[in-house]
Amino acid sequence: MKTVITYGTFDMFHVGHLRLFKRMRELGERVIVAVSTDEFNALKGKQAVIPYEERYEIIAALKCVDLIIPETCWEQKVIDIREYDVDVFVMGSDWSGKFDFLLPYCRVVYLPRTLDISTSSLKESIRSPRVAFNV
Ligand code: CTP
Repeated sequence: MKTVITYGTFDMFHVGHLRLFKRMRELGERVIVAVSTDEFNALKGKQAVIPYEERYEIIAALKCVDLIIPETCWEQKVIDIREYDVDVFVMGSDWSGKFDFLLPYCRVVYLPRTLDISTSSLKESIRSPRVAFNV
């Protein structure tokens, strides 16, 4: 059985996140998602709109995800890979090359991002909605 893992905040859960998980499932039978805690995001200078417990609850309801763990620090990846016997480490292509230091421990795959959707763009479209003119 192959185990696949990814890490992220997954704030305002959207189809780009869902497709990433579905493609992880194609790479292995066990999909683990490490969700960044609010405390870890604060260390990164980020604040999620949706609190950790709710981001966790949404991802836990997905049938393409088998296990969720908290991401609490930058250094945990090697420990997690060993503890959960991970075969493939996955991130979206915006992270290309950034996790190649994990190559001694497992396969590292950067999957193409889903186009035209991100938490940032959702936030922006809520801040500045496009006005529809009926004339
Ligand atoms: N991701 C993806 N396709 C998207 C958006 C995100 O494949 N359209 C992937 C990212 O590459 C990352 C994971 O989903 O591996 C978690 O990304 P996250 O930063 O939580 O989501 P974003 O929508 O990119 O959030 P932000 O705009 O705040 O960076």
